[in-house]
Amino acid sequence: MTDQPLLRNLVEPGIVRLTFNRPDKLNALSTPAIRALEHELDAIAVDPAVRVVILTGAGDRAFVAGADIAEYRGNRTEAFAAYQFESRRVFDKLEALPQPTIAAIRGYALGGGFELALCCDLIVCATSARLGLPEGQLGLSPGGGGTQRLTRAVGKIVASDIMLGARRITGERAFQLGLAVEVTADEALTETALARARAMLKIAPRAQTEMKRLIRQGFDAPLPVAQSFEQEVLLRLYSTEDGQEGIEAFLDKRQPEFKGK
Ligand code: COA
Repeated sequence: MTDQPLLRNLVEPGIVRLTFNRPDKLNALSTPAIRALEHELDAIAVDPAVRVVILTGAGDRAFVAGADIAEYRGNRTEAFAAYQFESRRVFDKLEALPQPTIAAIRGYALGGGFELALCCDLIVCATSARLGLPEGQLGLSPGGGGTQRLTRAVGKIVASDIMLGARRITGERAFQLGLAVEVTADEALTETALARARAMLKIAPRAQTEMKRLIRQGFDAPLPVAQSFEQEVLLRLYSTEDGQEGIEAFLDKRQPEFKGK
């Protein structure tokens, strides 16, 4: 055991797992955890050896049960605001990471935990997963992008149902809503996330980064503008080494060897 708030493991070549590590507090997001996450994201963003990142929580009860409410108590408004600005910056970095990210959720993913998952490219859930934005019960509202990212992901009515009634949805429901790509038995969650990560290793890295950006940025842009982004990206990728290698490999009936160039 270690008291580091965030553990980093190289699971296999190209696949890094970041584990929120405070199981006795259901991995509640303390300031040190947010800072550790930013530190890791900054390092990963410029490390081409990392191809996929899996985020998960230590123990079997929670992914992350939200911001550390104990830190909120008696805080001066300026300190509270500083925490909010800092966590927003880190959540945005997670969303903008060049490499694909997968949130593997077992147990509670509440408040900031759910919001972190919404910044990832994919969510896989165990059947024990319980996702929600219960900040209203504290007299507060979400601050890590939840009101916006959840609404964009599932629409206004479902997002209102989850937030205004502080409803916790199950992993199965998250799958039905298209929030999670897969729901699996708790014991199979690690392997399920890994299988998704391994599939991602086969895609050319630059193409993956560009598609990820197109999906996120294009979603917020008018369709003709987003289509122009898309065409620019494709034309750029066509003239990369990997673009040419992919075409040659298909026609030669062999596996491509992508170099990230
Ligand atoms: N911040 C700080 N501590 C938290 C926490 C959070 N967000 N979520 C859980 N914990 C702590 C509890 O205080 C408790 O600590 P203790 O053992 O020292 O008393 C420990 O984690 C276990 O939680 P507990 O509440 O005893 O478990 P439970 O099974 O009864 O309930 C939850 C689980 C998730 C329903 C409940 O902990 C909860 O509602 N947490 C807050 C969720 C939330 O509002 N998140 C948004 C924050 S902005």
